[in-house]
Amino acid sequence: MGNPTDPAASSSPACRAIRPEDAEALSRFFERLRAQGVEKFFHPHPFTAEEAAKRAADTGRDFYCLLTQENEIMGYGMLRGWDAGYAIPSLGIVIDPGAQGHGHGRRLMEFLHTTARQRGASHIRLKVYLENIRAMTLYRSLGYVFQSEEGGQAVGLLALTPTNAASQKESAE
Ligand SMILES: CC(C)(COP(=O)(O)OP(=O)(O)OC[C@H]1O[C@@H](n2cnc3c(N)ncnc32)[C@H](O)[C@@H]1OP(=O)(O)O)[C@@H](O)C(=O)NCCC(=O)NCCS
Repeated sequence: MGNPTDPAASSSPACRAIRPEDAEALSRFFERLRAQGVEKFFHPHPFTAEEAAKRAADTGRDFYCLLTQENEIMGYGMLRGWDAGYAIPSLGIVIDPGAQGHGHGRRLMEFLHTTARQRGASHIRLKVYLENIRAMTLYRSLGYVFQSEEGGQAVGLLALTPTNAASQKESAE
């Protein structure tokens, strides 16, 4: 059993649903993404303060979440489409460019898979540019299958199974 006062434990990355009080920190995170040109590969919505406030306050069926470490936002993820009436949610993630390559992307993906499964989804879809090698490698390693294209991006589909969705203990609540 982990000790909550253990500094090593408190610095572990953790995934959780977004909260209204995250708006300001999310806005600063979006600023960092813009400054580093992340929008070239990932543009689910404008990375503005206004959007940060909207996402943090969202109470719909779509799901927005964060990966944090020592209270810093290191990653942002989403499952969208439920509000629009789709049964299969579309996944999107981004990790702070300064923190990529340390397993955060994989962790956030697994958290989103678990959340989608808990909410009854049978599949997850996503779109990715073919030249986004890092993301493509990650998605393929997680079992996404790419068979079509939309707006210049490959469309990936993952069939959720107990093995690809149940490895995270973190809760979406
Ligand atoms: C794609 C992204 C989310 C990956 O996050 P990350 O934290 O860097 O990824 P991880 O460290 O968890 O690595 C996961 C996998 O990616 C692959 N990967 C990581 N670095 C890589 C690199 N330099 N080249 C190729 N593949 C790489 C590996 O398969 C790795 O798996 P491993 O566990 O075997 O090492 C991140 O690079 C990102 O935010 N990119 C910008 C936004 C974006 O493109 N989002 C996706 C839009 S579709």
